[in-house]
Amino acid sequence: MSFCNKVVLITGAGSGIGAATAIAFSKQSAKLSLVDINEKDLNKTAEICKTNEVLKVVADLARDEDIKRIFDETIAKYGKLDILVNCAGTYMPSNIESENLMKIYDRIQAVNLRSIVALTNCAVNAIIEAKGSVISICSVSAKLTTKYNIPYSVSKAGLLHFTKCAAIELADKGVRVNCISPGVVKTNIFQSSGLNEKEISMCLDTCVDSTPLGSMIQPEEIADMVLYLSSDKARNITGTDYVVDGGMLLNGLIVLR
Ligand SMILES: NC(=O)c1ccc[n+]([C@@H]2O[C@H](COP(=O)([O-])OP(=O)(O)OC[C@H]3O[C@@H](n4cnc5c(N)ncnc54)[C@H](O)[C@@H]3O)[C@@H](O)[C@H]2O)c1
Repeated sequence: MSFCNKVVLITGAGSGIGAATAIAFSKQSAKLSLVDINEKDLNKTAEICKTNEVLKVVADLARDEDIKRIFDETIAKYGKLDILVNCAGTYMPSNIESENLMKIYDRIQAVNLRSIVALTNCAVNAIIEAKGSVISICSVSAKLTTKYNIPYSVSKAGLLHFTKCAAIELADKGVRVNCISPGVVKTNIFQSSGLNEKEISMCLDTCVDSTPLGSMIQPEEIADMVLYLSSDKARNITGTDYVVDGGMLLNGLIVLR
């Protein structure tokens, strides 16, 4: 699966699944446009990928002006865009009784859903020209009903439907749009969520214990799926949600607290 001469834009490239995806594409000779709000982490990923051409864009995906700048800087450097990987995401637990629900809801929708619609909208002509592909990282939370998870679950359910709607609209233009739904992957997303270490380990242990295959998913496994879905091997795959969850959806259980 060589991605030689392919330009790949990856959001959330500073950490976790996004960082693993950037490294996997760099090993396959892709030209990278790496985006993250965290400059220090972005620099770390870019350093690992430095044998390839790398553009770093420090940006907050919740800001429309940053979305435009991400696209403009990518085109200014490479003149085209083949593959858009929407990986950045944020998670904060809250429920319908939480006092600060709407503040959390607005931030999560802005990062996990609105930014993906906005960036895809900005980049769509370039992706059509390249007959390229869009891959977004969704979640099993799009399908499960879980407690303390309304903003995140709703954002991912919206992303799943956005993927299908965009796929049908872009199919006759030669563009494929897919998403991947991981189960529990050990990344920094839990540390950034406001949960304390005890809550995080309880949440991770419970999720892994209730997963039929019983093991923690590694970011590299999700990256492998991103590369597959972006490649010619997946040329007849569009509008799908590839679940990589160790069988978690078979049980239909996530306990966050
Ligand atoms: N880790 C899991 O268990 C899991 C499960 C299902 C889905 N996901 C999804 O996978 C994706 C990647 O998450 P991860 O687990 O690698 O988490 P992570 O925290 O390791 O990485 C997320 C990255 O997104 C960046 N980011 C957050 N807000 C941003 C913003 N406003 N602008 C730009 N960058 C921003 C962060 O700085 C970080 O580098 C997310 O969409 C997440 O919802 C994760």
